[in-house]
Amino acid sequence: MRRVVSHPVLGTLTAAREVKIYVDGKEIRAREGEPIAAAVAAAGIRIHRYTAERGEPRGVFCGIGQCTDCVMVVNGVPNVRTCITPVMEGMIVETQHGAGSEDR
Ligand code: FES
Repeated sequence: MRRVVSHPVLGTLTAAREVKIYVDGKEIRAREGEPIAAAVAAAGIRIHRYTAERGEPRGVFCGIGQCTDCVMVVNGVPNVRTCITPVMEGMIVETQHGAGSEDR
């Protein structure tokens, strides 16, 4: 399984315990502390959000927290940059539509 072991923002990611997170209601296994985007990618999910005006899909682009293409709704909070946000046990991650929860 492909995993991020060194990240320009999060640093070196050592071996971590396996945890469960939920992406659009589906349970996936992740490593505690890895970027959410890495866990989502390992589960085969490439679309993180849909744009507000045209509903176009977006996913990881820069991978270092600069472009916001990877934002998702995490634990009910929209616009979380998943490429620089570490996984924690039990996170609820949702594909973001437009500006977030108020725009659904
Ligand atoms: S991929 Fe650019 S901010 Fe996450």
